Amino acid sequence: MKSREAKLSDVPSITKIHKKLFPDELPNAHNQIRSEHHRVFVTLDSQNNILGYVIYQVIDFEAEIYFFGVKEELQGKKIGQELLKFSLEELKKDEVKRITLEVKESNLKARKIYEKCGFINVGIRPRYYKDEAGIIYVWEDKTI
Ligand SMILES: CC(C)(COP(=O)(O)OP(=O)(O)OC[C@H]1O[C@@H](n2cnc3c(N)ncnc32)[C@H](O)[C@@H]1OP(=O)(O)O)[C@@H](O)C(=O)NCCC(=O)NCCS
Repeated sequence: MKSREAKLSDVPSITKIHKKLFPDELPNAHNQIRSEHHRVFVTLDSQNNILGYVIYQVIDFEAEIYFFGVKEELQGKKIGQELLKFSLEELKKDEVKRITLEVKESNLKARKIYEKCGFINVGIRPRYYKDEAGIIYVWEDKTI
């Protein structure tokens, strides 16, 4: 398993995973990979199949996680952790100092990874999602 910055040729695979995980959210990886305000990373297996992706919006030294997903049938195998850790190291190289995200309160799998990677729970937005609260997490680069 290895991670790297996404390329335009990854778009079909990313879009396929995205559509399954987030059927209500329009895929936009093609534009995001090309945009100077986004960073997109993927994790691949030894045959270069894309297993997961993460999309950040990055403006100046602040970022926000837009989408983060691992192929449904491969979840729970630490792919998400590898991808998130890799992407944080890449963003640190670009001197990103602060990353925020919002996640459903019940999404314990994602929350566990965020917390393991140093994100701090800084607040709750009741009824942010149709049926439940959103938890706001913030990561700050402590090495700067
Ligand atoms: C969230 C997601 C990206 C995580 O990737 P993943 O590869 O499945 O996750 P990992 O295997 O790296 O890690 C999952 C962690 O959650 C833990 N976990 C699993 N179920 C859990 C639960 N019910 N409660 C608490 N922790 C749980 C696992 O034990 C593991 O932690 P550990 O390594 O310390 O044991 C992936 O599950 C996914 O795509 N989910 C659907 C889309 C989504 O929710 N995206 C995030 C939106 S913000």
